[in-house]
Amino acid sequence: MAQHVRGVIARAKGEPVEITTIVVPDPGPGEAVVDIQACGVCHTDLHYREGGINDDFPFLLGHEAAGVVESVGEGVTEVAPGDYVILNWRAVCGQCRACKRGRPQYCFDTHNAKQRMTLLDGTELTPALGIGAFADKTLVAAGQCTKVDPAASPAAAGLLGCGVMAGIGAAINTGEVGRGDSVAVIGCGGVGDAAVAGARLAGARRIIAVDIDDRKLEKARSVGATHTVNSRGTDPVEAIRELTDGFGADVVIEAVGRPETYRQAFYARDLAGTVVLVGVPTPEMNIELPLLDVFGRGGALKSSWYGDCLPSRDFPMLIDLYLQGRLDLDAFVTETVGLDDVEEAFARMHQGDVLRSVVVL
Ligand code: APR
Ligand code: ZN
Ligand code: ZN
Repeated sequence: MAQHVRGVIARAKGEPVEITTIVVPDPGPGEAVVDIQACGVCHTDLHYREGGINDDFPFLLGHEAAGVVESVGEGVTEVAPGDYVILNWRAVCGQCRACKRGRPQYCFDTHNAKQRMTLLDGTELTPALGIGAFADKTLVAAGQCTKVDPAASPAAAGLLGCGVMAGIGAAINTGEVGRGDSVAVIGCGGVGDAAVAGARLAGARRIIAVDIDDRKLEKARSVGATHTVNSRGTDPVEAIRELTDGFGADVVIEAVGRPETYRQAFYARDLAGTVVLVGVPTPEMNIELPLLDVFGRGGALKSSWYGDCLPSRDFPMLIDLYLQGRLDLDAFVTETVGLDDVEEAFARMHQGDVLRSVVVL
């Protein structure tokens, strides 16, 4: 039996989101219906609303979520009703060239939910990132569900589904931060702070947080930064060199997505160091780098997409570390709000007042 539940949708470009009744069908083969308990508010949801991703309105927003599996369709073995899960937006196929070469992080045939949820009049909804979790319930592919320890609060757990995983993974997976490394993180929003927390988990010795906002730097300190640099008045490349005995950082993580900070990241690393680009640039952005600098400095220039995570490996591990008190996911939850408050949460996010607002259901 299809169910009628509440969902937050973006009906048309730039219009405020609205809460309305949506129809969630029974799970088909390979699918699951999940009772959502919490879902974080992410910039990507706002980009959908603004028409910045595609024009497939109306969107069912929300994609950083944790909940309980309510029912599963035919052939589902990964999860069962009652399982406490974190949703991911990249259920890998296991069959494509990327998967077969052992790089499922680059799977290009991800099996996310099909567009089967609708409005009452039958209009098909496009779930944000194949999830759509600002809703009492949502339909996903079973491979989008990863079972984790139910002792973790839904507000904290859901964050691993997107932004916080992107940051932690940039440090531990893409950057391969090692014990004793020096790490610089440029841009300390939710993603950058998660990179700071990831660097700490990995045993980095010096963790230098760079931002243009002192409030952000203070917060970065609370999640593990050992040094902070406000780059409004100071050249961050010089400052990072000074804080690393003149060498530069072993790993520099860029979490802003602007040409000047990409450039800073490139020059702030030590010889043979690694630069990890997490900030998402726009199509117009370009930088020029002298080839001799690229050649002469060695090391690696990497981009990090979803923190190069493997949900089945990383979500349960990070939840366990959280429950052991070694990873403070609660620090990323600035406020919990209701399903009615998504539009206001967008405004606060835009003003830079919050790391994450989390809708709790
Ligand atoms: N130098 C340093 N920090 C900067 C600069 C700059 N020139 N410009 C902005 N910042 C800081 C902001 O003050 C803010 O703290 O970068 C941070 C960006 O944080 P958010 O806007 O909260 O974004 P976040 O969610 O952390 O995502 C960062 O990663 O995944 C990508 O798409 C995402 O490109 C975005 C980036
Ligand atoms: Zn997101
Ligand atoms: Zn694949």
